[in-house]
Amino acid sequence: MTTPPTGVPEKDFAEELEFLAAYDDGPRPPGWVLTPRAVVTFVCGSSEPLSLPAGAKRKGLTPRMAVSGKFVGDRALIERCVVTLAGERGLMLVGEPGTAKSMLSELLSAAICGTSALVVQGTAGTTEDQLRYGWNYALLLAKGPTPEALVASPVLTAMRTGAVARVEEITRCLPEVQDSLVSVLSDRRMSVPELTTEHAHTIAAQPGFAVLATANLRDRGVNEMSSALKRRFNFEVIPPIADAQAETELVRRQASAAVARSGAQFSVDDAVLDALVTVFRDLRTGRSDEGWAVERPTAVMSTAEAVAVATSIGLAQAYLANSAGDPLEYLPGNLFGVVHKDEAADAERLIGYWDSAVRRRAEAGHRMWRSLWDLREKLER
Ligand SMILES: Nc1ncnc2c1ncn2[C@@H]1O[C@H](COP(=O)(O)OP(=O)(O)O)[C@@H](O)[C@H]1O
Ligand SMILES: [Mg+2]
Repeated sequence: MTTPPTGVPEKDFAEELEFLAAYDDGPRPPGWVLTPRAVVTFVCGSSEPLSLPAGAKRKGLTPRMAVSGKFVGDRALIERCVVTLAGERGLMLVGEPGTAKSMLSELLSAAICGTSALVVQGTAGTTEDQLRYGWNYALLLAKGPTPEALVASPVLTAMRTGAVARVEEITRCLPEVQDSLVSVLSDRRMSVPELTTEHAHTIAAQPGFAVLATANLRDRGVNEMSSALKRRFNFEVIPPIADAQAETELVRRQASAAVARSGAQFSVDDAVLDALVTVFRDLRTGRSDEGWAVERPTAVMSTAEAVAVATSIGLAQAYLANSAGDPLEYLPGNLFGVVHKDEAADAERLIGYWDSAVRRRAEAGHRMWRSLWDLREKLER
């Protein structure tokens, strides 16, 4: 029996991580549980099953395993991320919403230090304490500022244990709050001036400590980040998935898994997937497969949203549809929901897409696009 996924990579992929630690016993940066090469394999997957070398075989350890591909994209990008984290600079993943920045940050930290849990979620209300430390006030009043009364932030805990500290959506924090990371990154130590001299004033990071931040390009700008902080990060832009087939595969896999988790037995229809991913990509890039110009909506047409739509259609079909119904019927309404989030004009743009690209494909005699063209009225709510 397989246990349902928890969404925590060090748990869900514990067996892979254990295997990779034994598979590649080469030199690793101080504090790392895997070699940099094994981290890349964990994130991108192995093209074929890997076999443990003779000396590494142990009881209870699978001797041969294909490592699943998790991030879909450029391997060289992941290699650069891993190299940055092996050095002493911070890593900043930037990109549009839904490009798997958070997923990547969890996978990297799980593979490098065994935990993805040391995370601060950036919001407009994030305080310096949440990035540095706070106090247990009962202990503080009883005993004064002692190390026991100190409440470590995830960043401080990562420094003490030589782990990866994750900061999600860092640009949502106020710039002065963000800047509390400058000294952490440059000196690799945090000073606690409140501690009396008999206790150590500064806490030095153990080897392996690194900061991995994410930022959405749609949020208040990365531009507003101070240049002092920017200089201490290597930036990597995470692009949307380039290859249409790879994106379709990913949407199929994740939507099927989500439908299965909700207890329904259902595989997402191929024609729906094909249409869905095509429409998403056309609207995202402003250009159709055929090279026709498409007016782009301001709404984010991310892979993550495509997974959500495919899942809704799968669920509707599993629970609501009669078997004769065409699953394509659910597509226009769901697309309308995704597109019509920010601006009313976006709904017009979707109709414009129907009247140009969908219509031309229908007129060229494609059956699926003809069905979708016939469903145009579902867009006019
Ligand atoms: N390149 C990709 N590889 C794998 N999954 C992806 C990719 N792009 C998007 N996804 C899917 O989208 C989901 C949302 O990603 P998330 O990490 O929350 O995005 P972000 O933090 O960039 O907004 C992921 O969990 C994954 O299911
Ligand atoms: Mg995110």
